[in-house]
Amino acid sequence: MLKGTRIVVGISGGIAAYKSADLVSRLRKKSALIKVVMTKRAEEFITPLTFSSLSGNEVATDMFSCPKEREIQHISLAHWAEYIIIAPATANFIGKVASGIADDLLTTTVMASKAGVVIVPAMNTNMYNNPIVQRNIEDLSRHGYLFFGPAEGNLACGDKGTGRMEEPEAIVEYMEGLAGVKGDLENRTVLVTAGPTREALDPVRFLSNASSGRMGYSIAGTAARRGARVILISGPTNLEPPPSVEFVPVVSALDMYNEVMRRFPECDVAIKTAAVSDYRPASVSQHKIKKTGDGMSLALVRNPDILSELGKIKGGRILVGFAAESTNLLEYAREKINKKNLDLIVANDITRKGTGFDSDANEGYILDSAGATEELPRMSKMQMADIILDKVVSLLGKDSG
Ligand code: C5P
Repeated sequence: MLKGTRIVVGISGGIAAYKSADLVSRLRKKSALIKVVMTKRAEEFITPLTFSSLSGNEVATDMFSCPKEREIQHISLAHWAEYIIIAPATANFIGKVASGIADDLLTTTVMASKAGVVIVPAMNTNMYNNPIVQRNIEDLSRHGYLFFGPAEGNLACGDKGTGRMEEPEAIVEYMEGLAGVKGDLENRTVLVTAGPTREALDPVRFLSNASSGRMGYSIAGTAARRGARVILISGPTNLEPPPSVEFVPVVSALDMYNEVMRRFPECDVAIKTAAVSDYRPASVSQHKIKKTGDGMSLALVRNPDILSELGKIKGGRILVGFAAESTNLLEYAREKINKKNLDLIVANDITRKGTGFDSDANEGYILDSAGATEELPRMSKMQMADIILDKVVSLLGKDSG
């Protein structure tokens, strides 16, 4: 339902700007409230008059126009918006926001806002595939900006490939999905663990693994966007914690165990994406270990299995685990659901290239305790986060019903 939803539509300077007239008109038909912001370049493709007629509101173009009622325009637009859609979003716009450059009304509005921002790129294929543009998209995604498209097809420049702006009808459908799920985790507390753990051997060395933390951070950010209070307990990663989550940094499996046990009672849901070390060195040397002979062996002791411990005390809480395997994926995942008393488990094959551990994409299966198995085709970790949370929401619904 978009009725009454306050949306700022930002238009940057691409030929696809003409499609945004249709977008604004379709959003209005759904009774959304629309304010349009255009960049200077966008005005060369289509006039503000078109958008003021279609949106029913004056179009904002200039940072320094003297606003009525002495309001600061980018701040008032940023506060007013529940969502900001940038369509078309050029490589220039994406690059500016990714670099923190706010030099016009559109970039300042986006950067001053806590609204959900949906970026709908449109550009030439080579430009879209340029590693710098791709890196900017990755960076923004990591900070919670959502991307929709681009689609494949004939481009205005005569090339064929990925870069077409998504059709207005599809954008409206996407927005309806987004607004529909808004708030479905309100009044719920979700605990997420993420990243690797580090098990110290001496003051400089440790045992760890290649987990990037991206799956967990995506789930934490998405759960917060869907209204949950989120506690993110994370091992060391290179990621920025998503906005508005309670961030608890930890280092070792024992630290993670202690923090999880302390916070679990206040939670409705726990999602354990962390790649926890199963073992730690039996003792930690106070000084740097010196090389002695040709070989050396390490004595290791078991770490607590945090998830199994939660399984024993979960009560009515929803418990979600992850299973990263290189063989017998589904068989091991099913075994873990039962053994650890889980409601859901997400299983990934870590031998697949381009997905899983240190990647932005993921694929695999989601299994539930009732015996159902659903395939998750290759998708971004952000998209997968929404699918996992959809399942959690439906389990919470059953619980309270
Ligand atoms: O048994 P396995 O390590 O494959 O199970 C993976 C799941 O268990 C993940 O959800 C992981 O976060 C959790 N786990 C844990 N504590 C451990 C080992 C794994 O919570 N010591």
